[in-house]
Amino acid sequence: MKNVTINTLHKLKAGGEKFACLTCYDALFAGLYGEAGVEVILVGDSLGMVIQGHDTTLPVTMENVIYHMECVKRGAQGSLLIADLPFMSYASESQTLENAARLMRAGAQMVKLEGGAWIAESTSLLAERGIPVCAHMGLTPQSVNRIGGFLVQGRDPEQADTMIEEARLLEGAGASCLLLETVPQALANTITEALSIPVIGIGAGKDVDGQIMVIHDLLGISPITPSFVKNFLADSQTGIPGAIADYVAAVKACSFPGPEHSYD
Ligand code: KIV
Repeated sequence: MKNVTINTLHKLKAGGEKFACLTCYDALFAGLYGEAGVEVILVGDSLGMVIQGHDTTLPVTMENVIYHMECVKRGAQGSLLIADLPFMSYASESQTLENAARLMRAGAQMVKLEGGAWIAESTSLLAERGIPVCAHMGLTPQSVNRIGGFLVQGRDPEQADTMIEEARLLEGAGASCLLLETVPQALANTITEALSIPVIGIGAGKDVDGQIMVIHDLLGISPITPSFVKNFLADSQTGIPGAIADYVAAVKACSFPGPEHSYD
């Protein structure tokens, strides 16, 4: 696959072509993604739950993300590489800059931060210094204890309006893209249309510009399976590579996510 950059994602959004993203934690899978045409790889702090066996992403450290980023970098074949800044690794200005730089040195081409208005300042700081930011809104798992669980966000009209405002604010602050997790499809649609930056969704319905899934969910081996995930391995004739290729094809054809994977 030709090297994917943020410009590629902008072109895909402008042309109305959906793009496929997946989480990844090792070199071998990163190579498979390149062959299947997965445009974006996320070294997510979901690794705390699917690799390390924790109940939440909170125990994940900078060292953990750097280790997996370095593994993924060695196998990647053209996908755009995003790495998560883990819990409490962007609590102050200097910490944010230092930790984002560490992820970029490990091979990331963009960093992801969870939050709304409060990450606007960090977003501009990073963007001004040449570090692209993916802002993660909606269900932000690092705040699971404040939210009170892994719950759908933005169902209440007031909360939905705040999310739309904050998404615009983050775009204005210099975010290169936005990730929406577990929000009603109509809200994700409104935000995607309101922004010129690409919007990636997970449990956010079919109208966003790109879809992302945790690879363990796609393979049907996660201990917890939210309703928005689909096991692509179950119907694959060619094992794991086929399941990944089927996911990419389904995203491109807009046949995934279906209504059964989305929230009203
Ligand atoms: O950490 C992660 O893998 C994520 C995805 C669930 C989007 O943030």
